[in-house]
Amino acid sequence: MSNRDKLIVALDVADLGAAEKLAAMLAPYVGMFKVGLELYTAAGPEAVRRIKERGGRVFADLKFHDIPNTVAGAVRALVRHGVDMLNVHAAGGRRMLQAAAEAVKEEAHRQGRPAPLLIAVTVLTSLDEAALREELGVGRSPEEQVVFWSLLAQECGLDGVVASPQELEALRRACGPDWVIVTPGIRPRGSRRDDQSRVLTPGEAVRRGATYLVVGRPVTSAPDPVEAAVSILGEMGAT
Ligand code: C5P
Repeated sequence: MSNRDKLIVALDVADLGAAEKLAAMLAPYVGMFKVGLELYTAAGPEAVRRIKERGGRVFADLKFHDIPNTVAGAVRALVRHGVDMLNVHAAGGRRMLQAAAEAVKEEAHRQGRPAPLLIAVTVLTSLDEAALREELGVGRSPEEQVVFWSLLAQECGLDGVVASPQELEALRRACGPDWVIVTPGIRPRGSRRDDQSRVLTPGEAVRRGATYLVVGRPVTSAPDPVEAAVSILGEMGAT
């Protein structure tokens, strides 16, 4: 996989015009664009369509979490929109994960296109050990819970997980070389951290086993987003 293929740029904007402009200029340098809840709720499937028209691939970061039948239906709809990667919460449990995995394969087959990657969200990084225990009733540490849910997702036929830089090495050890690990919290050398508390440089993230890097503001808020993306591609190589 090339560095370009590994780079996902998060289009965290509410305005479709702004997203489209970024996608058009960055498409030659970036493997995928992440459309999150903000843009998708504001602009709907049109956001996916416009990015694809500009030559971009799309990661729909909509984190589905509902009963198996409902999640399967939503997953099928996203596959019909032509997304290349999508995600669901591992907390939905085994039957929900299996239903999502089956829905991806069936619908992609029906559409005659390659199946998009189905990724599990494990423990949100906004939850620490105390919140896991006191608010969610989970006795494991965040890292143990991330690995536990990641193994469950693997058993259920998913392709990988979203994981913070902190859990990369434990996950790679537990889940093997082919498991897809999508890692946000990336900051190029010498850049601002914004509100990210745990960050890794692009080179370090690749070295520790990340398959895909999700980068938002260091690219989208840069004076020259193309230059910022090209520089990140360079850093990914310099591990
Ligand atoms: O702008 P920045 O590079 O911080 O954006 C990172 C992207 O990854 C955002 O879309 C953010 O929501 C997402 N993300 C994250 N940390 C997580 C999970 C997702 O930063 N633990």
